[in-house]
Formats: sequence, C-alpha cells, structure tokens
Amino acid sequence: MEESLNNELDHISPLNENIPDEEGIQHLNNPVTDLKPIVKQYLTSVKEVKKENNKFYFSDGSARVEVRVVSDEIIRVRLAPHGVFLDDFSYAVPQVDQKVTLFRLEETTDHYLISTNVVTCRVSKADFLISFIDIHTGLVSGSDASAMHWEENVEFGGYYVFATKHCQPEENFFGLGDKSGNMNLRGRKFQNWNTDAYSYGWDQDPLYRTIPFYMGINEGATYGIFFDNTFRSYFDFGKEDNVKTSFWADGGELQYYYMHGPHMMDVVKRYQSLTGTHQLPPKWAIGYHQCRWSYYPESKVREIAEGFRSREIPCDAIYLDIDYMDGYRCFTWNKKYFPDPKKMIKDLANIGMKTVVMIDPGIKVDDNYWVFKEGKENNYFCRRSDDYFMEGHVWPGRCQFPDFTNPEVREWWGGLYKELVDLGVAGVWNDMNEPAVFGSGTFPNDVRHNYDGRRGSHRKAHNVYGMQMVRSTYDGLKKLQRNKRPFTITRAGYSGMQRYACVWTGDNVATWEHLKIANIQCQRMSISGVPFCGTDIGGFSGEPDGELFTRWIQLGVFSPFMRAHSAGDTSEREPWSFGEPFTSINRKFIELRYKLMPYIYSVFWEHHRYGFPILRPLAMLEQENIANHFRQDEFTFGDKILVCPVLEQGATSRRIYLPKGKWYNFWSHELLNGEDEYVIDTPLETMPLFVRAGSIVPEYPVMQYVGEKPIDEVWLNVYYADYEVNSFMYEDHGDTFAYEQDIYLEKKFNVKGDGRSLHIEQSIEGLYTPNYELYDYNVIGLPFTVGKIFVDDKEIFDFSIDEQKCLRFKSNKNFMRINILKA
Ligand code: GLC
Repeated sequence: MEESLNNELDHISPLNENIPDEEGIQHLNNPVTDLKPIVKQYLTSVKEVKKENNKFYFSDGSARVEVRVVSDEIIRVRLAPHGVFLDDFSYAVPQVDQKVTLFRLEETTDHYLISTNVVTCRVSKADFLISFIDIHTGLVSGSDASAMHWEENVEFGGYYVFATKHCQPEENFFGLGDKSGNMNLRGRKFQNWNTDAYSYGWDQDPLYRTIPFYMGINEGATYGIFFDNTFRSYFDFGKEDNVKTSFWADGGELQYYYMHGPHMMDVVKRYQSLTGTHQLPPKWAIGYHQCRWSYYPESKVREIAEGFRSREIPCDAIYLDIDYMDGYRCFTWNKKYFPDPKKMIKDLANIGMKTVVMIDPGIKVDDNYWVFKEGKENNYFCRRSDDYFMEGHVWPGRCQFPDFTNPEVREWWGGLYKELVDLGVAGVWNDMNEPAVFGSGTFPNDVRHNYDGRRGSHRKAHNVYGMQMVRSTYDGLKKLQRNKRPFTITRAGYSGMQRYACVWTGDNVATWEHLKIANIQCQRMSISGVPFCGTDIGGFSGEPDGELFTRWIQLGVFSPFMRAHSAGDTSEREPWSFGEPFTSINRKFIELRYKLMPYIYSVFWEHHRYGFPILRPLAMLEQENIANHFRQDEFTFGDKILVCPVLEQGATSRRIYLPKGKWYNFWSHELLNGEDEYVIDTPLETMPLFVRAGSIVPEYPVMQYVGEKPIDEVWLNVYYADYEVNSFMYEDHGDTFAYEQDIYLEKKFNVKGDGRSLHIEQSIEGLYTPNYELYDYNVIGLPFTVGKIFVDDKEIFDFSIDEQKCLRFKSNKNFMRINILKA
C-alpha cells in the first residue's frame, strides 16, 4: 500500500489540482478516501451512423460523437459520453456554420469518411479514432492516438474530457495566446485558468487569458485545433509522452474545431472566421499612450499632458488608474483630486489628449453607493452555491461582483458608463477581471453564474468572466457614443475577446528578460486571434534604465497597442524621464509610429476585414523552413515591414534572419537577399527594420496626435523590386462606423519592375473621399537612371533625385497607372 501511495504521489502534477492527469490518475485532496485510480472510459467501436444536414452522428452504442462540416476547411467534433449533447452554445463562436461547397459520407471496410473539397475527416470503425486528411496531398493531421475519453466527475457532475492525438517526430506547435515562454510549444504542458499573475516570470503558467487554440506544423503543412471549452483546460505537446499531444478539461464538452491549412496564415484566418476579428479601433487608439498607476491629482495629469506637447513628443491618450475614483468605487470621482473632471477632460481634448479611465469588476459593499445599491436591488451580483453573495477583497475593500454572464447585468453595466461618456471620457480600461480577488486569487468554484440562461458554476464561467465584462463595456459604449468606435482594453479574456477589446499583457517587470517575453507574447497573441495587443512599455514593476526603456519603446512602435505603464511605487516613467540621449531617441521612434500611421491603420483594416494577424512571426512567414520554428525574435508588422528588436543590454549588433525575397534596410536603403542571416549594427538610436522590396509604404507627416493637422499630401515610399508585389492602403473617417456602409477607401497598389522600368498601378474600392489631392513619391532603389515618367499616359517633367538617391515626384491621388522609364 505504501509503495502504491508513493507511486501515486510521483504522478501528482505540478498543478496539484484535484483532477486526473493524462495518465488517468485522479489526485483528490483526501488520499484516505481515494487511493484507487478512477478508470477512464474510451469510445469503443462505431456501431451506428446517422446524417442530419451537415452533421453526422456516430455512436458506439452508448456514447455519441457529432462531426459537423462547418466549412470546406473547418470540421467540428463533439463528444457526448452518454449520448446527450449539451446545449450548443459558445461565447467564442457566435455562429458555427459557414459556407460549404459540397460534402459527402463514404464507407469503406474500415472507415467512415466525411469529405469536403479540401479535407476528409476519417473515423475508424474498429476503435473510433478520428483523423483529418488533406484531399490533395494525402497528409494526415491531428490524428487520434487513442479514442476520445472521459471520466465522471463525482464531485461536481459531468465529465473530465480528454483527446489524445499523435505528435509527429518533427511536428512543432504554436498558439495558445497568453503564454510567457518560447514561441514553439513543443515539449511543454500548459493550463488555461485566467490568473492575476503579478510580476509573472518566464514560462509561468497560467496567465491572464484563455485561448485554447493551437496550430501544429508537420511536413510543411499547418492545421489548427480550437478546443472550445471554458473550463480549466490543459494542453500537452509531447511533454509527458513525446509522441502524443493531448488536451483535456475539468468539465464541459469535448468539443473541438479542426481547421485545415495548409498555411499557418490560412489556419489563423479560419480561427478568426469562427471567433471574429477586431473591429477597426478609433485611429487615435493606435497612437502612443501614456499611463501610470496613477496620475493624480488633476494638476499632475495636466503636467504630463503638457509635458508631451512642450517636448514635442507625440501622444494620443493619457490614462487614469484607480486613484481617480472615490475610495476605488467604480463610476465615481475623487472630488479632492479631480474637482471638475469635465473641464479637465475638455482641456486635455483641446490639446489632442484623450482620457481613458479604469473600471474594475469589484463593487464596494456600501449601501450609500448607487452602483452597489442598484446591483443589490436587482440581484445582479454573483452568489455562492448556498446563496450567500460572493464577497472578496479588492482595491475598495469588501466587494461584490456583477455576474457578467447574465445578459441583463451586461445591459445594466454598459449603461453605467453614461456619465463617463458625458464627461468626455474616450476609452475604458477593464482590469482585475480574471476575476482577481486578494488572498484567494479568484472566486471559489461553487459561485453560480447565469451563463446566458444556461447556468453554470464558476468552474465553467471563470475563463469567460473578463470577456463578458468587457463585452458589456464595449456594447454599452457603442450605444452611448452612438456612431463612434469604442476603445476598450481588457486584462482577462477568452477566445473571441477580440470582438470587444484590445489587451495588454498585465503586470510585467522592468527586466531584459521581460522585454524578450514581451516580444514573443505579442507575436503569439497575434497568431492566436488577438492581434491588438501590447505590453506595459518599460515594465510595470521594477525600474528600467534609459537603455531598457528606449529598447522597449522601439519594440512598442511595432506592438499593435503602444502604451507605457508603470506601478505606483516606481520612478517617473515618461519618454523624457531618462534624460538624453534617451529622450531624443524615444521621440524619434514615437514619431516613426505616427509617420507610419497610414500603414499601421491599413494593417488593422487587413486584420478586421480579412482576418490577417497584425504581427507575423518567422514561423508563419516560412513554415516550411523548420529552423524558423525556433527563431522567435523577428516578425513582420503586416506584410511589408520586418522588425528585429534589440533584446540584449549593451548590444551593438545582432544577428537577424531575413525570409525569402529581397529586403531593404529601412535606415540605409541597402538591399539584401532573403533566406539568409546577417549581422546588423544596433546602436541605440536604431533598431533593425527592413522593408520588403516591391512594397509601397504610405507615410504621414509627424503629428503630435492623430488628426492634429489636415493631411495635405500622402507620402508614398515605393521600394523598387524586379518582380511584382501588391500593397494596400486603407483610409476612412478614423473614428466612426461609416466604413460599415462602405464609406472607406481600400487602395491596392501593384508594383512591378524589370530593370529598365517600374510600373505602379492603383485600383480603388469604396466611397470615402480624403481631403488631400496629391501623392508625394519617394522611390527607393531604382537600378536605372530615370528618363521619363508617365502618369496615366501623360508625361510629367517635374521630378528630382534627392541626396539619398531616391526619385521624388508627385501625382494626383486618383492615378491609375504610372510608368517610370530608364533614360
Ligand atoms: C493591476 C493592473 C495594473 C494597474 C493596477 C492598479 O495590477 O494590472 O495595470 O495599474 O492593477 O489599478
């Protein structure tokens, strides 16, 4: 007996949870009452098949499996251990079915085959193993190593559910969103349970968000699995057993979507087609933002805002952290610190500074506080299983918490923002919504939730709590601001959160290691469906020196969300806080963000409309090159700009890899061949940046904030290539939903060089009319002396070559065709 106890303890996972691990051994807290392993049940053999439209039901006589053809490339699999499926409801996937061209069921001696034009889902009759096969190449992906299995949860009811797939010898894994270690997930095990992870470390797990979506790349082809299960979930990518990849959860349904590639980009787009893309943010939201816990009183806020303007460092928003509130009561103001918020916000707006405020979920228990009273009277706060209110301590002291999984509560909460909107607040930052509770970490499991009328304990609702909070914030602001795009930020979330908010990566630390984590984290979030992501520039806790802060600003220019933030007990952390040369370099890089604004905005559009991720790691750019599965520093922002941040203290050069094609050094215009490594100098005032040959990168003049001045001309940087490349530029009003009525312009540029000439074509879609008339060209890398230039077949004579050997000329913004010919 003693020996077996030791054996069992050997198996206790580091998570030390009261759940079975993949070995099938349940670790209960009470070893006296439970020493015997609970045996898992596996699907046996297929006894029956039924078809209902795009759904196929397979049964082994007791358990049932539904295989649903969602689109030509997406297939969903669900398991009902005793034949009864749960309500088909998901916070992540608002609508399951997409367009399917054709699908069919075939039966062979050993298998059932459900095929679309692209992929076959194969179910083996004898052992119920499921796999997916590319119709054209025959490559098998995501194949079960053992049949889907489950185990009854005697304490809570329902089942622990498990899937185990083959992990191929050279297969690598990416995704899962909010993880803090290496980008490649192979050989590691993770769990998802939204956690307030103050000062988290490298590889600490879990963190703030749950994105149970991963991609496997094997033999140069990518597929994806989205395990849509909100309970605490686990992923093992060949850690416990090198040849197996498993995922499992503490409850709920074993339900996953298989998404076909073959390219990683295809899979990400398919994942976004299920869970949605980010709305276009208001343009000011992609400027530079300044935050701190906290800027107060009002005089301090004004001093910081004016500090940006007097030093001519661009900035679009300043944040008010919890201290603006009265005793941390959400939706109130501390009148001592902020006697006239309306006037302050207006004065800030007059110098182009937007005000963003924090709102937390914990509502102070105080019968004289209107939010608490309303919540109490309407029964909006969460309760424990025995009907007591869920109470816990957060910033205001003893709090109760709205149940955001109740649609009525969401509606109420969304309306609470009215006064803030009336005061002129431009954006809302939802924090502590894992939910975080001091001491215990979060709610106990027995807290009850409405779960949109379907009911559930906190085990089921925990991971969606933050997402539903920010959903109600977003929807509320959308109503209150009428046609204006809301700007919301959330710390916690679940797959699909991108429909409602951008995210920051929580309480990081001012260390070089965290700069590395930041770089990987943003890339990983981007390919995990949450592209509008940023980190606390400079590190939340601890003290960066000038060098670290500047390197972080440089990375921040190419983080979709660019905000500096720091904890209250740290020194000043504005771009000028470190003196020279740091201030000037920080200014230069923040200015670069504003120059690139039309490019950055276009990349956001590409994400919103087409589901492209904003940051694209090397593994995505060249998945067929296995070495790239391990390179994690370089990424492209959109399709055109390759970024290689400097992540080491004192680095004067760094090694970089350029993917296929030709690349211009952004600073020197030197042209380099891709598929090769280079060592690039990295003095503090630069960061390695490259532009894909053939690109057009639009540029605005530097502004101190978005919309500071009217745009007279848009600068088009054209990077010559002796092949053909398309570029896009998107334009619209910048902060309304008019784009939903086609009031936007999507311009496509086609650039083609042949050594003797360069041709540029433009096609335009949409109905928006920008105010400027001219494009001002800056053609880089022309390999010939210019003789003639024709714009729409009309020769123009006004051109010049500048000191950087770039060709300069102008044309009307509506040109269709430009030919630049050799002398
Ligand atoms: C949390 C947030 C942090 C914020 C602080 C005070 O730690 O992650 O960003 O400044 O709370 O509100």
